[in-house]
Amino acid sequence: MEKVTASIEELRTRINYHNRHYHVLDSPEISDAEYDQLMRELQRLEAVHPELVTPDSPTQRVGAAPVEAFGTVEHREPMLSLANAFSTEELGAWHKRISGLVDEELADFVCEIKMDGLAVSLTYEDRRLVRGATRGDGYRGEDITQNLRTIRSIPLSVPRGVPDLFEVRGEVFLSREGFIKLNRDRADQGQSLFANPRNAAAGSLRQLDPRITAVRPLDIFIYGLGYPKSGAKTKTHWDTLQVLQGWGFKLNPLNSQVRGLGKVEEYHHIWQAKRDELPYESDGIVAKIDDLALQEGLGSVGHEPRWAIAFKFPPVQAVTRLLDIEISVGRTGTLNPFAVLEPVTVGGVTIRHAALHNEDVIRSKDILIGDMVIVQRAGEVIPKVVGPVASRRTGAEKPFVIPTRCPVCETETVRPEGEAMARCPNAACPAQVVQRLEHFVSRGAMDIEGIGEKLARALFEAGLIRDAADYYSLTLEQLAGVERMADKSASNILDAVEASKGRPLSRVIFALGILHVGAEIAEVLAARLGSMDGLAGASREELANVAGIGPKIAESVHTFFRQWENLGIIEKLRKAGVTMKYAETVRERRGRLKGLVFVVTGTLSSFSRQGAEAAIRELGGSIGSGVTKKTDYLVAGAEPGSKLDRAQALGTRILSEEEFLDLIEGKP
Ligand code: IVH
Repeated sequence: MEKVTASIEELRTRINYHNRHYHVLDSPEISDAEYDQLMRELQRLEAVHPELVTPDSPTQRVGAAPVEAFGTVEHREPMLSLANAFSTEELGAWHKRISGLVDEELADFVCEIKMDGLAVSLTYEDRRLVRGATRGDGYRGEDITQNLRTIRSIPLSVPRGVPDLFEVRGEVFLSREGFIKLNRDRADQGQSLFANPRNAAAGSLRQLDPRITAVRPLDIFIYGLGYPKSGAKTKTHWDTLQVLQGWGFKLNPLNSQVRGLGKVEEYHHIWQAKRDELPYESDGIVAKIDDLALQEGLGSVGHEPRWAIAFKFPPVQAVTRLLDIEISVGRTGTLNPFAVLEPVTVGGVTIRHAALHNEDVIRSKDILIGDMVIVQRAGEVIPKVVGPVASRRTGAEKPFVIPTRCPVCETETVRPEGEAMARCPNAACPAQVVQRLEHFVSRGAMDIEGIGEKLARALFEAGLIRDAADYYSLTLEQLAGVERMADKSASNILDAVEASKGRPLSRVIFALGILHVGAEIAEVLAARLGSMDGLAGASREELANVAGIGPKIAESVHTFFRQWENLGIIEKLRKAGVTMKYAETVRERRGRLKGLVFVVTGTLSSFSRQGAEAAIRELGGSIGSGVTKKTDYLVAGAEPGSKLDRAQALGTRILSEEEFLDLIEGKP
């Protein structure tokens, strides 16, 4: 046992080390595969010795059960917000005002990028993360500990030498790339889109099911110590940041210690010009007085400290005419309206099209065709229409009406109640077929390198593929015959097609393009139902009982697997050798309960006694006849009788039927 404890400890130390190098320091030292292997080994040991699982084990970042609602957390020190300056003059006025208050010209600042995310507070007690909360009203926030635990750049434990109890503050955000991907997914699923990365980050953190949060690529930068204020034993904010970095927290590498207000202006100027190059969205910079004693002396007014200010960037907007609203048909048949604009340059880029999301958004923003509109480029690839300039209307503007027929195949459209998007219900609509084919090979789905949108379309148009499974029967001649395809790349593509057969089940499910099933839902379904057949055979109720799956998704999945065209594609994929089972291979399953002695008692609802014992033996466990000191687990069904009493007396671990099912299914 001591040996196991030591191995677990060693694995955790190694995983934490590599985790930090990958997520905090951006300098990985091992491959993802090697990392996964360490993680799997730890998961294996912990599955066999559940009593050794601790809340700060790296395996515990995901998998906590959903909550009904968030609890409330009181902040030990209030979480302040910031006053804004919109110009150099306003910045100067702030500087003059506070210099007057302390009777000296303040000159030492720390400049930071103002992240456009969500402020959070992290509490550590005895070196462990015990609580994570939103800002709330500044005094009390929401308890989102389980969700914050899923963010890899938040340390679950910190090194020795830290205060027994402390709180750090930082900003959780979603990168632009993560945001675009998330929204693309959502558009494909006919779900409403997040307006910007900030909303997406907030929405992700406020998920009641942490397993959903876990698959969103959230990140954090820590920008201060909340409590105790002097906990880092430093004299300046800059030094505090360095101490926090030493404790394992992730700082923004662009933080800068500067001297003189001119340098603050310069920092603002530089990052305003380069804001589009930042991998995340920022709406300005934050200037903070470096000296902590001066900060203390300056204090705050209301929610705003006098010692810091947000110096905002101007929004990147322009006004132009909305010439028309056109429709593109999405993969799941959604009719996506987009704006056709009179070309205009915004921040050096010419804009001709902009996103309009859906009919309701167009109506709620009161946008009419022919309007002069404000367009904004906020780092997203697709600029958006902010709203009309109603004062410039001539009376010739016309409201937009979503067509009642699909612009591609002319099938009558539908819009289920409660959904944001009208949809073409014809699964054979060429617009949908091509996009499904494109989606299947895309990154995040089967990731078949070399087949992009263009080639997928060309293969379809040449009649070489009609559904996704046809990729697996393509020949070298067929590929080489497609326009301008060299033999070399054709054979590379065949290799990539071959390699895609080994993608995990969640990817295969996602690649099928089931309505409402994005990458993260696919992951949940794969983990919970274990195989394609498990998924295909699940009833609406079984599907809806999976945490994170609502009735709408359940209905959509259920319908998908009852259409013979889809079942035909799946059979072809199976024959081609594409993954049909969840990650765990048969070999890994065998032996998961090795060395463990079980006793089963009482009546189980989903197993006969023999069935339960067979399941245990299949996984390498053995069955004892009575409860003794050697018994590891007593599985207790209804009316368990004297064995339960004996197990309680001996302190044997007792599993309910549900816990037993989770154990044999390898669920966390
Ligand atoms: S300092 C004085 N630093 O901006 C303590 N805030 O408008 C106030 N923010 O609620 C926070 N980046 O969510 C600070 N480097 C940064 C920041 C930052 C983003 C956010 C934070 C805060 C809001 C205030």
